[in-house]
Amino acid sequence: MDTIKIGLLGCGVVGTGVVKQLISNQENIARNTGCRLEIKRVLVRDLNKNRSLDLPRKVFTDQADDIINDPEIQIVVELIGGIEPAKSYILASFAKGKNVVTANKDVLAAHGREIFAAAEEYQKDLRFEASVAGGIPIIQPLKDSLAGNRIKEVLGIVNGTTNYILTKMALEGKEFAEALAKAQELGYAEADPSADVDGLDAARKIAILASIAFRTRVSVDQVYVEGIRDISALDIVYAQELGYTIKLLGVAKEVNGEVDVRVHPVMIPNNHPLATVNDVYNAVFVEGDAVGQTMFFGPGAGELPTASSVVGDIMAIAKHIRLGITGQLTGCTCYYNKPIRPIGQLNSSYYLRLLVQDQPGVLANIAGVLSQHQVSIASVLQKRTLGHLAEIVIVTHEVKEADFMASMAEIRELPPVEKVDSIIRVESTNSNG
Ligand SMILES: NC(=O)c1ccc[n+]([C@@H]2O[C@H](COP(=O)([O-])OP(=O)(O)OC[C@H]3O[C@@H](n4cnc5c(N)ncnc54)[C@H](OP(=O)(O)O)[C@@H]3O)[C@@H](O)[C@H]2O)c1
Repeated sequence: MDTIKIGLLGCGVVGTGVVKQLISNQENIARNTGCRLEIKRVLVRDLNKNRSLDLPRKVFTDQADDIINDPEIQIVVELIGGIEPAKSYILASFAKGKNVVTANKDVLAAHGREIFAAAEEYQKDLRFEASVAGGIPIIQPLKDSLAGNRIKEVLGIVNGTTNYILTKMALEGKEFAEALAKAQELGYAEADPSADVDGLDAARKIAILASIAFRTRVSVDQVYVEGIRDISALDIVYAQELGYTIKLLGVAKEVNGEVDVRVHPVMIPNNHPLATVNDVYNAVFVEGDAVGQTMFFGPGAGELPTASSVVGDIMAIAKHIRLGITGQLTGCTCYYNKPIRPIGQLNSSYYLRLLVQDQPGVLANIAGVLSQHQVSIASVLQKRTLGHLAEIVIVTHEVKEADFMASMAEIRELPPVEKVDSIIRVESTNSNG
């Protein structure tokens, strides 16, 4: 049986899981792939760190060239994260004739075009299942199993940290800051949580999913992004009363040949499958013209769940190496060049919570401005009176975002309007965007 040699770039959370899984499951892996997989070298930053792994010390190096320039290594597994030096190492690996597995959404969402071009130029495989939703198989299912569909929409809870925070807020009535502190205490959120709570992490993932689903390159800077910092416990309670759950969603849809791609808090109906996805779990809901509605659910991060995806990718490449077909089956699928739909063109319903002077005629005033901008009201609730102020919640019918925002700019200026506390988009299933 042939042996295929692997170089790991990085041995942190995910790298450790990959080493453990390749060793503990080696018999199975050999039977499945028809070859033995050997971890030849592992790049780390700190050679003195205690790794507690069943690997000889001499395997570890702090020199990337020991892997990239080693002609015996056929698969490089990039698990460093971030843009540089990860991007340079990936490109250099292709140039040296190696296949690459990566879990790095940052580099793919920002430089996917260049990285895929290099894989194609050198006729090598690039696999990245772990880059979106960790342990959940979604990249290959979209590329292969669902390839016969015209995909209508992809909706994803693809950031475990924000899903944990929103779940705590919903189930325990905590405010955002308190729920974030709890997430940090449990290690679910970084000391600087901005990439998660401001939506950037989810934007990188939905850029990758949109690219595959709609077969056109979407980069992270094309994704409209809003995070969850402004969601209050009150909005979550009112959403529940109206029959909705608030989730941070990555949304990708094709509308009249344009790609609508965005990340923001969304009120989804309580009977939508995504509404029941709680805590740090991730889920990706995909609707195709043939398959209908499907949902992929599971752990979006963690040592072994993420290693599960990485090892699956390594094994697929090992089979391609054995058959001499690397670079032929797993190339870029972005055949088209579809424009991105501006956020102003979005058709959505909106939830709006505002504080107004508690006096006659205010509601008529607000309704008047809304109707001037073609915004029609689906429901109005007066929630509380706070001294001389009244709290009002309005849910609109579907309207173009640009019209809704224009009405809001005017409403904010109305003298009896004290404050617009929140605006949240309401997702109706099967919306046409
Ligand atoms: N953690 C998850 O659950 C998860 C889930 C899905 C995807 N991912 C992705 O997987 C990748 C790895 O994440 P992780 O959580 O395993 O990261 P991590 O725990 O921070 O590990 C990073 C590893 O890379 C090494 N490293 C960092 N910078 C380096 C440099 N300049 N030169 C050489 N080695 C360097 C570190 O060395 P030392 O050990 O010496 O510090 C460490 O071994 C990222 O792209 C991440 O987005 C992670």
